[in-house]
Amino acid sequence: MLNNRIMEKGVNFYKDSLIYESGWHHEYFVLEFIDFLFIKGGKNMQKYINYNLSNVGEKVTLSGWVSKVRNLGGLIFIDLRNRTRIIQLVVNPENKYYEIASNLKSEYVIKITGIIVERVNKNLNIPTGEIEVEVDYLELINKSKDIPFQISDDTTALEDTRLKYRYLDLRRESLQNTMAIRNKIMFATRKFLIGQEFLEIETPILCKSTPEGARDYLVPSRVNKGKFYALPQSPQIFKQLLMIGGFERYFQIAKCFRDEDLRADRQPEFTQIDVECSFVNEDDIMELGEELISYIFKEVKNIDIKLPIMRMKYNDAIDKYGTDKPDLRYGMEICDITNIFENTSFALFKDVIDNNGIINAIVVKDACDKYSRKELDKLTEFVKKYKANLLAYIKYGNEVTGSIVKGITSEELNKIKENLSLENNDLVLIIPGNKKIVKTSLGALRCKIAKDLNLIKKDEYKLLWVVDFPSFEWSEEENRFVSCHHPFTMPKDSDVDKLINDKENCYSKAYDIVINGYEAGGGSIRIHDEKIQETMFKALELTEEDIKEKFGFFVDALKYGCPPHGGFALGLDRLVMILSQTDSIRDVIAFPKTASASDLMCECPNIVDSKQLDELGISLNKGE
Ligand code: AMO
Repeated sequence: MLNNRIMEKGVNFYKDSLIYESGWHHEYFVLEFIDFLFIKGGKNMQKYINYNLSNVGEKVTLSGWVSKVRNLGGLIFIDLRNRTRIIQLVVNPENKYYEIASNLKSEYVIKITGIIVERVNKNLNIPTGEIEVEVDYLELINKSKDIPFQISDDTTALEDTRLKYRYLDLRRESLQNTMAIRNKIMFATRKFLIGQEFLEIETPILCKSTPEGARDYLVPSRVNKGKFYALPQSPQIFKQLLMIGGFERYFQIAKCFRDEDLRADRQPEFTQIDVECSFVNEDDIMELGEELISYIFKEVKNIDIKLPIMRMKYNDAIDKYGTDKPDLRYGMEICDITNIFENTSFALFKDVIDNNGIINAIVVKDACDKYSRKELDKLTEFVKKYKANLLAYIKYGNEVTGSIVKGITSEELNKIKENLSLENNDLVLIIPGNKKIVKTSLGALRCKIAKDLNLIKKDEYKLLWVVDFPSFEWSEEENRFVSCHHPFTMPKDSDVDKLINDKENCYSKAYDIVINGYEAGGGSIRIHDEKIQETMFKALELTEEDIKEKFGFFVDALKYGCPPHGGFALGLDRLVMILSQTDSIRDVIAFPKTASASDLMCECPNIVDSKQLDELGISLNKGE
């Protein structure tokens, strides 16, 4: 079992080890760690202090940007902004720097010295609002062009403009805060994992393609013309090779690259907290993962996460929430009401049941009056995006009304009421059809309604492990079974024999951690047996040649005493999103890409000159 020492205990442990034992790893951990915590560098550099009344009378030197200047016909007030945020400066007309002060504009860079005094008109909305600095020296360090948008959190500037001038956007308080949260998460991760005897090891960025479900970004090789590297979709194969290499506990804050359709929580270039251990089982890894997450929540936001985190089987998540990443902050579970209609004469439902379909519903409590006919039509349009042709509704108000009440019997209406434990004013939304479509569309509808009706509490965090994933899922696009996680995932012991002939019923030792409806991370126990790995590749319809060409080196490595191992990767960007309560991944990355994978500031991707292409031996098709 992995021990659960946290950092404080870890440092004592290592101090003791240093005295009583000898060995390479003690030096690595103890000396570096302790130095890193206690060295004080840059004595003369600016201090980030929220000065307050207790500092009145102190002489300070501050540098930063002019956020705002107000000339009140005599006194000049300057809001100075730096990493500590805003502090008010005051320059009076007798001051010899008054002339410089009166010519200051937004975003000019200045340095001042002055005395902290108590303010007459206090602003209790900012931490430094009870004091100001009476300037006795002012230096204009640099001017700024007129800025394209106001640097404030309530800016109305278009996102594209802000992305073009990202270095200005980054000066906003909210982005400064999210970057600080990101930094805290990385620091807490390193503290926790190094305290648990993990080694941080980097793996290549130029590597061979490892299939993880998305397209690779390819990099042409100049030296080996006609050949390509792939940027890693994750360090998956390398971390497994590190286990074969004897490291036993590895982690890395790793850059990953995936050429896939982008969404609000997806970037082409993102960061994982990537972890792998040897000689572990599923419980060890999930215990480690949840302790790491609870440590991060505590360190970064002082939030207590109750451990152990609940676990839900993949099939149950799909049945009840229509997704493998359910948001448990609200109810509205999906209910199966197919059996009520087993002998129905209502043609629409009868047809569905005759064609092996299902009829499922969600209940929106106390909501009859919240949804007009027009609103319900909008919901119908919404579920069409998920291929559902019909959204039926029944309002159990003082009267029972709705789109199908005339078609079904009063007995069926009563059974719905009874089975779903309905109360007065409850709205029932029903979708009949093929299981996948019904579950997915009701799952999406559930989330939409929770947002529309403000059912989500902002400061609540609901975490769960989704476990027992199927090994395979059917790909319509490829017309074959593909890996649900990746091809290195160990099947359940009972299902190893199903890999070739019973794929639908083959489940794996894989798990995802879900927080408030986001897939925050995922992992698995890996296949350490070359025979099972080869069978898995065959199950994925890879030919001998494919296996040799794509994974020959890896299958070979499995032959040299591979330890049993497993791990997980957390999406760092998504953790930052969750802890900074933003819906857009672009808010948590210093230099993000747009939805079409472009960087508007650097204007990339861009055309390269023909000489570079010639060197690489690449010619573009005409018109491209
Ligand atoms: P997976 O593909 O599930 O697993 O990725 C792990 C976590 O990374 C985050 N993530 C992303 N975040 C932002 N943008 C993206 N495009 C993106 N794609 C994924 C998610 C996800 O849960 N090698 C395995 C892990 C393992 O088995 O150990 C892997 O990469 O939060």
